[in-house]
Amino acid sequence: MKQITTIKEAKQWLKSYQKKSLKIGFVPTMGALHEGHLRLISQSRAENDITICSIFVNPIQFNNPEDLAKYPRNVAQDARLLKNSGCDMLFSPTVEEMYPGDKQENLEMDFGMLDKVMEGKFRPGHFKGVVIVVRKLFNIIAPTHAYFGKKDYQQLMVIRRMNELLGHKVKIVACETVREDDGLAMSSRNLRLTIGERQVARRIFEVLCKVREKGTKTPVWELREWAIKKIQEDSSFRVEYFEIADRETLMPVESWGHKNQVVALTAVFLGDVRLIDNVELFS
Ligand code: PAJ
Repeated sequence: MKQITTIKEAKQWLKSYQKKSLKIGFVPTMGALHEGHLRLISQSRAENDITICSIFVNPIQFNNPEDLAKYPRNVAQDARLLKNSGCDMLFSPTVEEMYPGDKQENLEMDFGMLDKVMEGKFRPGHFKGVVIVVRKLFNIIAPTHAYFGKKDYQQLMVIRRMNELLGHKVKIVACETVREDDGLAMSSRNLRLTIGERQVARRIFEVLCKVREKGTKTPVWELREWAIKKIQEDSSFRVEYFEIADRETLMPVESWGHKNQVVALTAVFLGDVRLIDNVELFS
Protein backbone atom coordinates (compact mmCIF):
# COMPACT_ATOMS: atom_id res chain seq x y z
CA MET A 1 0.00 0.00 0.00
CA LYS A 2 1.30 3.41 -1.01
CA GLN A 3 1.31 6.06 1.73
CA ILE A 4 1.15 9.68 0.64
CA THR A 5 0.97 12.91 2.64
CA THR A 6 1.12 15.67 0.03
CA ILE A 7 -1.53 16.75 -2.47
CA LYS A 8 1.01 17.02 -5.26
CA GLU A 9 2.26 13.46 -4.83
CA ALA A 10 -1.31 12.11 -4.51
CA LYS A 11 -2.32 13.71 -7.81
CA GLN A 12 0.85 12.44 -9.46
CA TRP A 13 0.31 8.89 -8.21
CA LEU A 14 -3.32 8.89 -9.36
CA LYS A 15 -2.55 10.17 -12.87
CA SER A 16 -1.75 6.79 -14.41
CA TYR A 17 -5.00 5.28 -13.10
CA GLN A 18 -7.05 8.20 -14.34
CA LYS A 19 -5.48 7.93 -17.81
CA LYS A 20 -6.63 4.34 -18.07
CA SER A 21 -10.18 5.34 -17.04
CA LEU A 22 -10.16 2.89 -14.18
CA LYS A 23 -12.74 2.88 -11.43
CA ILE A 24 -11.32 4.69 -8.41
CA GLY A 25 -13.05 4.00 -5.08
CA PHE A 26 -12.54 6.48 -2.25
CA VAL A 27 -13.22 6.13 1.48
CA PRO A 28 -12.71 9.38 3.43
CA THR A 29 -12.15 8.91 7.18
CA MET A 30 -10.74 10.59 10.26
CA GLY A 31 -8.82 7.48 11.31
CA ALA A 32 -9.07 5.43 14.53
CA LEU A 33 -10.30 2.81 12.13
CA HIS A 34 -12.68 0.04 13.13
CA GLU A 35 -14.69 -2.67 11.39
CA GLY A 36 -17.24 -0.06 10.17
CA HIS A 37 -14.54 1.76 8.18
CA LEU A 38 -13.01 -1.48 6.95
CA ARG A 39 -16.38 -2.61 5.60
CA LEU A 40 -16.43 0.53 3.42
CA ILE A 41 -12.94 -0.36 2.20
CA SER A 42 -13.98 -3.91 1.29
CA GLN A 43 -17.11 -2.71 -0.51
CA SER A 44 -14.98 -0.24 -2.47
CA ARG A 45 -12.48 -2.98 -3.32
CA ALA A 46 -15.27 -5.19 -4.62
CA GLU A 47 -16.61 -2.47 -6.90
CA ASN A 48 -13.49 -0.63 -8.14
CA ASP A 49 -10.07 -1.15 -9.70
CA ILE A 50 -8.25 0.68 -6.94
CA THR A 51 -9.24 1.90 -3.48
CA ILE A 52 -7.95 5.02 -1.77
CA CYS A 53 -8.55 5.83 1.90
CA SER A 54 -7.89 9.22 3.46
CA ILE A 55 -7.20 9.85 7.12
CA PHE A 56 -7.53 13.46 8.13
CA VAL A 57 -8.89 14.71 11.45
CA ASN A 58 -10.54 17.76 9.96
CA PRO A 59 -10.31 20.59 12.52
CA ILE A 60 -12.94 22.80 10.87
CA GLN A 61 -15.76 20.29 11.37
CA PHE A 62 -15.32 20.16 15.16
CA ASN A 63 -17.44 22.74 16.91
CA ASN A 64 -16.06 21.61 20.27
CA PRO A 65 -12.26 22.09 20.74
CA GLU A 66 -12.17 19.45 23.47
CA ASP A 67 -13.73 16.88 21.11
CA LEU A 68 -11.02 17.71 18.53
CA ALA A 69 -8.23 17.44 21.11
CA LYS A 70 -9.54 14.10 22.40
CA TYR A 71 -10.17 12.57 18.98
CA PRO A 72 -8.16 9.30 18.90
CA ARG A 73 -5.21 9.35 16.50
CA ASN A 74 -3.07 6.37 15.55
CA VAL A 75 -2.07 6.53 11.90
CA ALA A 76 0.58 3.77 12.17
CA GLN A 77 -1.97 1.24 13.44
CA ASP A 78 -4.58 2.47 10.93
CA ALA A 79 -2.06 2.02 8.11
CA ARG A 80 -1.49 -1.61 9.15
CA LEU A 81 -5.25 -2.29 9.13
CA LEU A 82 -5.63 -0.68 5.72
CA LYS A 83 -2.71 -2.62 4.29
CA ASN A 84 -4.23 -5.88 5.52
CA SER A 85 -7.60 -5.01 4.05
CA GLY A 86 -6.12 -4.46 0.59
CA CYS A 87 -6.33 -0.66 0.36
CA ASP A 88 -4.07 0.61 -2.47
CA MET A 89 -3.25 4.08 -1.24
CA LEU A 90 -3.52 5.95 2.04
CA PHE A 91 -3.65 9.73 1.83
CA SER A 92 -2.93 11.28 5.23
CA PRO A 93 -2.14 14.97 4.83
CA THR A 94 -1.29 17.42 7.62
CA VAL A 95 -3.60 20.30 8.55
CA GLU A 96 -1.09 22.71 6.98
CA GLU A 97 -1.18 20.75 3.72
CA MET A 98 -5.00 20.87 3.54
CA TYR A 99 -5.44 24.40 4.88
CA PRO A 100 -2.27 26.38 4.12
CA GLY A 101 -1.94 29.73 5.90
CA ASP A 102 -5.08 30.94 7.61
CA LYS A 103 -7.09 31.40 4.45
CA GLN A 104 -10.81 31.55 5.27
CA GLU A 105 -12.71 28.73 3.64
CA ASN A 106 -15.87 29.77 1.83
CA LEU A 107 -18.81 27.62 0.97
CA GLU A 108 -21.48 29.01 -1.29
CA MET A 109 -23.85 26.09 -1.39
CA ASP A 110 -27.43 25.99 -0.35
CA PHE A 111 -28.49 22.91 1.55
CA GLY A 112 -31.89 24.25 2.56
CA MET A 113 -32.78 22.74 5.93
CA LEU A 114 -30.67 19.62 5.40
CA ASP A 115 -27.62 21.02 7.24
CA LYS A 116 -29.66 22.95 9.81
CA VAL A 117 -31.75 20.33 11.63
CA MET A 118 -30.49 17.82 14.22
CA GLU A 119 -26.66 17.62 13.90
CA GLY A 120 -26.72 20.98 12.13
CA LYS A 121 -28.63 22.56 14.98
CA PHE A 122 -26.56 21.10 17.82
CA ARG A 123 -23.17 21.27 16.08
CA PRO A 124 -23.16 24.67 14.36
CA GLY A 125 -20.65 24.83 11.49
CA HIS A 126 -20.12 21.06 11.51
CA PHE A 127 -21.52 20.30 8.05
CA LYS A 128 -19.84 23.34 6.52
CA GLY A 129 -16.53 21.85 7.68
CA VAL A 130 -17.48 18.39 6.38
CA VAL A 131 -18.51 19.70 2.97
CA ILE A 132 -15.38 21.84 2.59
CA VAL A 133 -13.07 18.93 3.35
CA VAL A 134 -14.94 16.33 1.31
CA ARG A 135 -15.12 18.65 -1.70
CA LYS A 136 -11.40 19.30 -1.35
CA LEU A 137 -10.64 15.58 -1.07
CA PHE A 138 -12.86 14.83 -4.10
CA ASN A 139 -10.88 17.42 -6.08
CA ILE A 140 -7.57 15.84 -5.09
CA ILE A 141 -8.51 12.17 -5.53
CA ALA A 142 -11.09 12.59 -8.33
CA PRO A 143 -12.76 9.29 -7.44
CA THR A 144 -15.41 7.63 -9.58
CA HIS A 145 -17.06 6.15 -6.46
CA ALA A 146 -17.07 7.34 -2.84
CA TYR A 147 -18.27 5.34 0.16
CA PHE A 148 -20.11 6.71 3.19
CA GLY A 149 -21.75 4.98 6.15
CA LYS A 150 -25.43 5.26 7.04
CA LYS A 151 -24.19 5.54 10.63
CA ASP A 152 -23.80 9.25 9.85
CA TYR A 153 -27.13 9.47 8.05
CA GLN A 154 -27.40 13.24 7.88
CA GLN A 155 -23.80 13.55 6.68
CA LEU A 156 -24.58 11.08 3.90
CA MET A 157 -27.58 13.16 2.80
CA VAL A 158 -25.57 16.40 2.92
CA ILE A 159 -22.80 14.81 0.82
CA ARG A 160 -25.39 13.51 -1.67
CA ARG A 161 -26.76 17.03 -2.02
CA MET A 162 -23.25 18.48 -2.38
CA ASN A 163 -22.51 15.99 -5.12
CA GLU A 164 -25.75 16.91 -6.87
CA LEU A 165 -24.85 20.62 -6.69
CA LEU A 166 -21.40 19.80 -8.12
CA GLY A 167 -22.92 17.96 -11.08
CA HIS A 168 -22.92 14.30 -9.94
CA LYS A 169 -19.26 13.73 -10.77
CA VAL A 170 -18.93 10.95 -8.19
CA LYS A 171 -21.18 7.99 -7.48
CA ILE A 172 -22.00 8.17 -3.77
CA VAL A 173 -22.43 4.70 -2.27
CA ALA A 174 -24.27 4.31 1.05
CA CYS A 175 -23.14 1.45 3.31
CA GLU A 176 -25.08 -0.13 6.16
CA THR A 177 -24.10 0.61 9.76
CA VAL A 178 -21.74 -1.96 11.26
CA ARG A 179 -22.53 -2.80 14.89
CA GLU A 180 -20.89 -4.47 17.87
CA ASP A 181 -22.40 -7.80 19.00
CA ASP A 182 -24.72 -6.02 21.43
CA GLY A 183 -25.98 -3.65 18.73
CA LEU A 184 -23.97 -0.52 19.59
CA ALA A 185 -23.02 1.23 16.34
CA MET A 186 -19.25 1.09 15.90
CA SER A 187 -17.65 4.49 16.36
CA SER A 188 -14.20 5.85 17.11
CA ARG A 189 -15.83 7.66 20.05
CA ASN A 190 -16.79 4.33 21.70
CA LEU A 191 -13.15 4.12 22.82
CA ARG A 192 -13.87 6.97 25.22
CA LEU A 193 -16.66 5.17 27.08
CA THR A 194 -15.87 3.83 30.55
CA ILE A 195 -16.36 0.08 31.11
CA GLY A 196 -19.65 0.79 32.89
CA GLU A 197 -20.87 3.10 30.13
CA ARG A 198 -19.91 0.58 27.47
CA GLN A 199 -22.05 -2.05 29.21
CA VAL A 200 -25.22 0.08 29.06
CA ALA A 201 -24.58 1.68 25.64
CA ARG A 202 -26.67 -0.99 23.84
CA ARG A 203 -29.80 0.82 25.11
CA ILE A 204 -29.65 3.35 22.26
CA PHE A 205 -30.02 0.74 19.51
CA GLU A 206 -32.48 -1.28 21.60
CA VAL A 207 -34.82 1.70 21.84
CA LEU A 208 -34.41 2.48 18.12
CA CYS A 209 -35.39 -1.12 17.33
CA LYS A 210 -38.42 -0.88 19.63
CA VAL A 211 -39.46 2.27 17.79
CA ARG A 212 -39.22 0.39 14.49
CA GLU A 213 -41.27 -2.44 16.01
CA LYS A 214 -43.97 -0.19 17.49
CA GLY A 215 -44.17 1.66 14.16
CA THR A 216 -47.41 3.19 13.02
CA LYS A 217 -49.42 1.76 15.91
CA THR A 218 -48.44 4.78 18.03
CA PRO A 219 -48.73 8.47 16.98
CA VAL A 220 -45.37 9.97 15.96
CA TRP A 221 -45.20 12.50 18.82
CA GLU A 222 -46.05 9.85 21.40
CA LEU A 223 -43.48 7.40 20.07
CA ARG A 224 -40.84 10.11 20.09
CA GLU A 225 -41.58 11.03 23.70
CA TRP A 226 -41.66 7.38 24.69
CA ALA A 227 -38.23 6.81 23.11
CA ILE A 228 -36.63 9.79 24.87
CA LYS A 229 -38.06 8.70 28.21
CA LYS A 230 -37.01 5.09 27.67
CA ILE A 231 -33.39 6.02 26.87
CA GLN A 232 -33.20 8.38 29.84
CA GLU A 233 -34.64 5.81 32.26
CA ASP A 234 -30.98 5.07 32.86
CA SER A 235 -29.67 8.32 34.32
CA SER A 236 -26.26 8.04 32.63
CA PHE A 237 -27.97 8.99 29.33
CA ARG A 238 -29.05 12.43 28.15
CA VAL A 239 -30.90 12.63 24.84
CA GLU A 240 -29.96 15.69 22.79
CA TYR A 241 -32.52 14.96 20.08
CA PHE A 242 -34.68 12.09 18.91
CA GLU A 243 -36.48 12.65 15.61
CA ILE A 244 -38.53 10.71 13.13
CA ALA A 245 -37.80 12.34 9.80
CA ASP A 246 -38.21 12.07 6.04
CA ARG A 247 -35.31 9.98 4.69
CA GLU A 248 -34.47 12.47 1.93
CA THR A 249 -35.11 15.92 3.41
CA LEU A 250 -34.57 14.89 7.05
CA MET A 251 -37.43 17.18 8.05
CA PRO A 252 -39.27 15.77 11.08
CA VAL A 253 -42.62 14.19 10.19
CA GLU A 254 -45.79 14.84 12.20
CA SER A 255 -47.78 11.79 11.20
CA TRP A 256 -47.45 8.34 9.64
CA GLY A 257 -49.39 9.38 6.55
CA HIS A 258 -46.17 10.92 5.17
CA LYS A 259 -45.60 10.19 1.47
CA ASN A 260 -41.93 9.20 1.72
CA GLN A 261 -40.14 6.67 3.87
CA VAL A 262 -38.82 7.74 7.25
CA VAL A 263 -35.87 7.24 9.55
CA ALA A 264 -35.50 7.58 13.33
CA LEU A 265 -32.35 9.44 14.35
CA THR A 266 -30.90 10.27 17.74
CA ALA A 267 -27.94 11.92 19.44
CA VAL A 268 -27.30 10.89 23.01
CA PHE A 269 -24.75 11.82 25.63
CA LEU A 270 -23.54 8.85 27.59
CA GLY A 271 -21.47 10.45 30.33
CA ASP A 272 -19.59 13.07 28.35
CA VAL A 273 -19.38 11.03 25.13
CA ARG A 274 -21.79 12.04 22.38
CA LEU A 275 -23.09 9.11 20.33
CA ILE A 276 -25.36 9.15 17.29
CA ASP A 277 -27.38 6.35 15.74
CA ASN A 278 -30.40 5.79 13.51
CA VAL A 279 -32.64 3.12 11.99
CA GLU A 280 -34.68 3.29 8.85
CA LEU A 281 -38.35 2.56 9.53
CA PHE A 282 -40.60 0.27 7.48
CA SER A 283 -38.59 -0.42 4.32
P1 PAJ B 1 -15.34 9.08 10.25
O1 PAJ B 1 -16.16 9.33 11.47
O2 PAJ B 1 -13.96 8.55 10.42
O3 PAJ B 1 -16.15 8.11 9.32
C1 PAJ B 1 -15.67 7.78 8.05
C2 PAJ B 1 -16.76 7.01 7.30
O4 PAJ B 1 -17.02 5.78 8.00
C3 PAJ B 1 -18.11 7.78 7.27
O5 PAJ B 1 -18.70 7.63 6.01
C4 PAJ B 1 -18.91 7.09 8.35
O6 PAJ B 1 -20.30 7.18 8.15
C5 PAJ B 1 -18.41 5.66 8.22
N1 PAJ B 1 -18.67 4.90 9.44
C6 PAJ B 1 -18.30 5.20 10.71
N2 PAJ B 1 -18.76 4.28 11.57
C7 PAJ B 1 -19.45 3.38 10.84
C8 PAJ B 1 -20.19 2.19 11.15
N3 PAJ B 1 -20.30 1.76 12.39
N4 PAJ B 1 -20.76 1.52 10.14
C9 PAJ B 1 -20.67 1.96 8.85
N5 PAJ B 1 -19.98 3.06 8.49
C10 PAJ B 1 -19.39 3.77 9.47
O7 PAJ B 1 -17.38 10.78 8.88
C11 PAJ B 1 -16.24 11.20 8.95
O8 PAJ B 1 -15.20 10.45 9.41
C12 PAJ B 1 -15.87 12.60 8.50
O9 PAJ B 1 -16.94 13.46 8.73
C13 PAJ B 1 -15.42 12.67 7.01
C14 PAJ B 1 -16.54 12.25 6.05
C15 PAJ B 1 -14.18 11.81 6.79
C16 PAJ B 1 -15.05 14.13 6.67
O10 PAJ B 1 -14.06 14.61 7.50
